[in-house]
Amino acid sequence: MGKDVIIACDFASAEQTFEFLDKFTGRKPFVKIGMELFYGAGPDIVKQIKARGHKIFLDLKLHDIPNTVKKAMAVLSNLDVDICNLHAGGTIAMMEAAIEGLTRPDGTRPLLIAVTQLTSTNQEAMENDLLIKEPIDKVVMHYALNAKKAGLDGVVCSPLEAGKVHEVCGNEFLTVTPGVRFADGDVGDQKRVMTPEQAKIIGSDYIVVGRPITAAADPVAAYNRCVEEFIG
Ligand code: C5P
Repeated sequence: MGKDVIIACDFASAEQTFEFLDKFTGRKPFVKIGMELFYGAGPDIVKQIKARGHKIFLDLKLHDIPNTVKKAMAVLSNLDVDICNLHAGGTIAMMEAAIEGLTRPDGTRPLLIAVTQLTSTNQEAMENDLLIKEPIDKVVMHYALNAKKAGLDGVVCSPLEAGKVHEVCGNEFLTVTPGVRFADGDVGDQKRVMTPEQAKIIGSDYIVVGRPITAAADPVAAYNRCVEEFIG
């Protein structure tokens, strides 16, 4: 899979999601389905979006004992998603079990990427709540390396971390980066943002873009602008 723009479809219902996706009559965007839509609409939503010709990043961030994650990943693999994810904090053993669960009898599997530390977790919370005393950048890179050791394909990270992740884990290791905004757009609640063009320069493999596309007056034009800036 090459570089692509993934639209975060953070809608509450299947109806709203289909109303949005119906606007795309040309190129079928890669879509991210998160917990809200998956839990609200049920697993069938994945099959329905897939049947319309979209690739799917199922963003459920699994984190449990290895055996449970392995079995849950086997279920997600059967849904034929293209990318799914988990928390690297679940340990290397959990990530290895996830790969086993995802791998189909014919040897194929969806891509699997890890969340290192959530961008909502800062140094203070990590030290006080989680008792992790190392600098957060070091923790993020260590978790990324753990993911690589376990055989995962990449990490979700801020576009600002993507270059460093590639330095530490190699250029083949995928960086999937949210926090993308147009230069002339609203930043909203995102703190550290980059434009699609900057994300391209820094070497992000996939950008995840939500509101700059979903809340745009013309979502198809906003998506096309993103693709143009990021892929060219
Ligand atoms: O609307 P916006 O472009 O901010 O959406 C970004 C998407 O990426 C949302 O679905 C959000 O939950 C997700 N995300 C993020 N930051 C992370 C991880 C995921 O914004 N660190």
